[in-house]
Amino acid sequence: MTIVAQPLHARPRPADQLAWLTAGWPEFVFHDQETARHLGRVRELFAELEVVLLDGDEIVAAGWAVPLCWSGEVDDLPAGYNDSLARALAAYDAGQQPDTLAILAAAVRGDRQGQGLAGKLLGALRELAGQAAWPRVICPVRPTLKSRYPLTPIDRYAGWTRPDGSPFDPWIRTHYRLGARMVATAPRSQVITGTVAQWQSWTGMTFPDSGDFVIPDGLSVLHIDRATDQGVYVEPNVWLQHR
Ligand SMILES: CC(C)(COP(=O)(O)OP(=O)(O)OC[C@H]1O[C@@H](n2cnc3c(N)ncnc32)[C@H](O)[C@@H]1OP(=O)(O)O)[C@@H](O)C(=O)NCCC(=O)NCCS
Repeated sequence: MTIVAQPLHARPRPADQLAWLTAGWPEFVFHDQETARHLGRVRELFAELEVVLLDGDEIVAAGWAVPLCWSGEVDDLPAGYNDSLARALAAYDAGQQPDTLAILAAAVRGDRQGQGLAGKLLGALRELAGQAAWPRVICPVRPTLKSRYPLTPIDRYAGWTRPDGSPFDPWIRTHYRLGARMVATAPRSQVITGTVAQWQSWTGMTFPDSGDFVIPDGLSVLHIDRATDQGVYVEPNVWLQHR
């Protein structure tokens, strides 16, 4: 099996080749209004930072990143995923020279997970920083097993390790094996709001009362307030920096 990395837009791709891409995330992440405000421009301006892995003609993994300015200090990190989008656009609009590649999404096709392809994809994304001579690579990671521990604060979860000292979370571990280290947590990486009816359709659950609810694939709980007809979900991530 020869896996080749290629920019997504190197040639036209049939839409059905990429249909699996949205399957890896819960529906609610596609309804973040702040993300929606930025994403169209981001994908257009930074299209050269989208990478796919090909096995023959088939796309088996895909990921993308944005360029932004970061001092290297923890205090200056973006708040998370959404703020990275905003910071990338702000730097572009101000004509600033970026110095940091922020990897914002990576996915491996379901039938090809657990074979180390994510490491290859991250390697290909990291190379983009090398080509552009941006000295830093960061990533607000969505820890894949956190959804099984939605009540645990992200600061505690991020500190969990296995007996061999490696990170407890498998997706953090993949980055760790490539030399990445945790620099901070991002407790408010995304804030997703919707009406009770919207949350019911996004989660397939019913919320008859106000309160906090554990939702499928949620990394934290959903807070429902029936009096104001609003549900708020705050997604925590973990900031990793690659060497
Ligand atoms: C997260 C993701 C990119 C990892 O890709 P991958 O190619 O499977 O990663 P790896 O092969 O390096 O596996 C990483 C670890 O997860 C484990 N793993 C991978 N797929 C798994 C699965 N389906 N079930 C259980 N464990 C799995 C592997 O065993 C490995 O653990 P190890 O450290 O003990 O060896 C992939 O699972 C995915 O696309 N998920 C959906 C989208 C997503 O959540 N992306 C991340 C947020 S941007």
